[in-house]
Parts: sequence; C-alpha cells; structure tokens
Amino acid sequence: MSASVKHKYRPETRLVQSGILRSQFGETSEALFLTQGYVYDNSAQAEARFKGEDDGYQYSRFANPTVTMFERRMAEFEGAEAARATATGMAAVTLAMMGQVKAGDHIVASKAIFGSCLYVMEDYLPRYGVTSTIVDGFNLDEWRAAMRPNTKTCFLESPTNPTLEVLDIAEIAKIAHAAGATLVVDNVFSTPLWQSPLELGADCVVYSTTKHIDGQGRCLGGVILGSEKFIQDHIHNLIRQTGPSLSPFNAWVLLKGLETLAVRVQRQTDTAATVAVALAEHPKVTRLIYPGRPDHPQAEVVRRQMRGGSTLVAFEIKGGKAAAFRFQDALELIRISNNLGDAKSLITHPATTTHQRLTPAARAELGISDGLVRLSCGLEHPDDIVEDLLTALKAA
Ligand SMILES: Cc1ncc(COP(=O)(O)O)c(C=O)c1O
Repeated sequence: MSASVKHKYRPETRLVQSGILRSQFGETSEALFLTQGYVYDNSAQAEARFKGEDDGYQYSRFANPTVTMFERRMAEFEGAEAARATATGMAAVTLAMMGQVKAGDHIVASKAIFGSCLYVMEDYLPRYGVTSTIVDGFNLDEWRAAMRPNTKTCFLESPTNPTLEVLDIAEIAKIAHAAGATLVVDNVFSTPLWQSPLELGADCVVYSTTKHIDGQGRCLGGVILGSEKFIQDHIHNLIRQTGPSLSPFNAWVLLKGLETLAVRVQRQTDTAATVAVALAEHPKVTRLIYPGRPDHPQAEVVRRQMRGGSTLVAFEIKGGKAAAFRFQDALELIRISNNLGDAKSLITHPATTTHQRLTPAARAELGISDGLVRLSCGLEHPDDIVEDLLTALKAA
C-alpha cells in the first residue's frame, strides 16, 4: 500500500499550521508540554488508559503532546500517514531497519551512505544474525543481483554525502518490491521540500531533524515516516518499549523550525545555486557537483525525482589536501564544521573528517578525493558567501 496521502493545503501552509493540539488556554504558539507523566481523573480512567480503551497520554516515553504535534506536522508535510519522532537521526535509521528484521533475514544497502548508517548495516545488524549486502547504489543490476528470498528491506541515501550524486529511488523501489522487500530512504540531503520518497515508491523515509529541520544548530532529533501499517507493524512498539524517544523540549524546537523550513531551504538552495555558478569555471576548482546543473552526473534522474537542487555544493580544489586546507583556513565567514543544514554556512573536508575512517581506495570509489570540500550554504547574504569563497580560493 502506498503511504502517500493527499492534503487540502499546500506544503508550505502545512508546515506552519498543521498538527496543532491547542490547550484550554487557546495559545497561538504551540505549547511545550515538559512533563514525564500524566494524571488520571480516577482509577477507572487509569485502568481504561492502560487497556487502550481511553485515548489520553500515559507516559512521555510512549507519547507526549508536543512530540505528537511535531510528528503530525512532519507527516502532513511529507504526505505520510504516520510518523514517529526519535532522539537522533541515527536512532531513526537504526529503528527503521531493526524494526523490520529478525535473525536469519537479509538487508541490502547502498555504499554511499552516512558513516554511522554504514556501521548499522555492515557491522551492527549482522551481529544479531541479519546479513547484509552493500551495493554500488547507482548500479541497478547490483541491486537486482543482491536480492535474496530472505531480503526484508533495502536502504539508501540520496543525494549522497558528500558528493551529492542522485540514486534512482523509483527504480530501486521497484526492484525491492519485486523481491518482496521494502525500501527505506534517508532524505536528509534533499529535505522534504525537494524530494518525496514515498511518492516515488519508498515505504519509509527517515530524517536526521538535527539538520535542516532544526536548521539553527540547536538540538538533535530524528523522525521515521511511512504508512500507518508500516509504523504500527515495525516502529510504534519498538520506540515505546526500548525508549529512543524525542524529548518534548527538542520536539518544540523542531516544531518552530518547521514553521520556517520552506523559506530557509528555498533561500539556502538559491544561494547554493549561485555559489555553483560562481565556482564552476574557477581555475582552482577542478570539479563541482550540484544537483540541478545540466552537468550533474545524474541530471536526468534529478529532473525526474527532485523539485529543487540542494543547500549543499561539493567541489574539488586543485592541489589536493594541502590546497583544500589552505582554502578552508583562509575562509573568514564560512566556518569549518562537519554539520550541515544550519543557518550558518559550514564547510568540511570529508577525506580528513567524516570519511577519514575509510581506506583511500574506498574513498576513491565514492569519488571523495583529497581536494574535495563540501559546503553547506547558510542564510547569510549570498554575495558575502561568494566573496568569502573567492577570496579564500586565492590562498589555495
Ligand atoms: C545523511 C545522514 N543521515 C543520518 C545522520 C545522523 O543524524 P544524527 O546526527 O541526528 O544522529 C546524519 C548526520 O549526522 C546524516 O548526514
């Protein structure tokens, strides 16, 4: 069953208005219910709530009104039937996979995924008897060849980190479904604004809400979205019983983040496109990757699958690691940090930070050269960002 649902209002309106649970005080801004527990009117009500015959709240590991508002707003925006929030993005990824498998099952994942996600697929789940096959996500034949009768689920990230290449979600979903498996998509790099994996055939979408959804560098969080059945069958009970729940405070911060997500991501995307134009022909830039440009390696898939580009730009500085370091160290406005999606522009050198654990050969396979840097565009004036980059390139 498709998890995608139709809505009355446009996505930007849903980001501001949907999911509100207004208290008896009629507050305009969503209330922060900073409470662990809930009291009952009488013993019979407590009994009914524990039996599931009364809808109210019981305990904030299970559910909390502020967290519910965040989950409802995320589901409304994504076009999903249901959502569950988690303490971090990694909790969301781990639960989305763990909730679907048991010992003896098999999973397939794309190679170009966030390092901790690769750890979950390659090292962690196999400890419990879940075997995994890691494929070159761009090669559809590798996905087909990896499917086994016991394959339960597949995992991919698109656009990929840090090279911003784009996998064909609709085709990979077809391959997974033909084998009786589901597809989970980590949609962090595109944000819910530019890509809707559920509409493309995926069964589940996960986010690190730490990135654009907070968007102002304040708190960690994650969310899992899918059909009501997917969430009930695989996620709901797992979160209640094992406890990687989102704190109400962080849910409140994230709710306020959602109100401004569309304007922030649009502006950051426009800035990234401006940066891409300014740097593409620069003599010290040997390669530039930006989804939306005609020279993007999967330009045709980008056109089919995404509604916008990216808030990130990846580019290679001529002269390898030494030149990339000189360039980064000469930046004045843009700060060096491995985070992304922030209001502040951030840059990272993946080969020596996020991807340093990989062998040089594995990095080369993923296109992560020693000169590659990844820029996350913030909300500063685009001309200031471009000027900072062009000035620092003189030092490279
Ligand atoms: C693509 C991607 N997925 C998952 C995560 C994990 O999210 P978190 O740090 O919120 O656990 C990150 C970043 O950290 C990421 O970039």
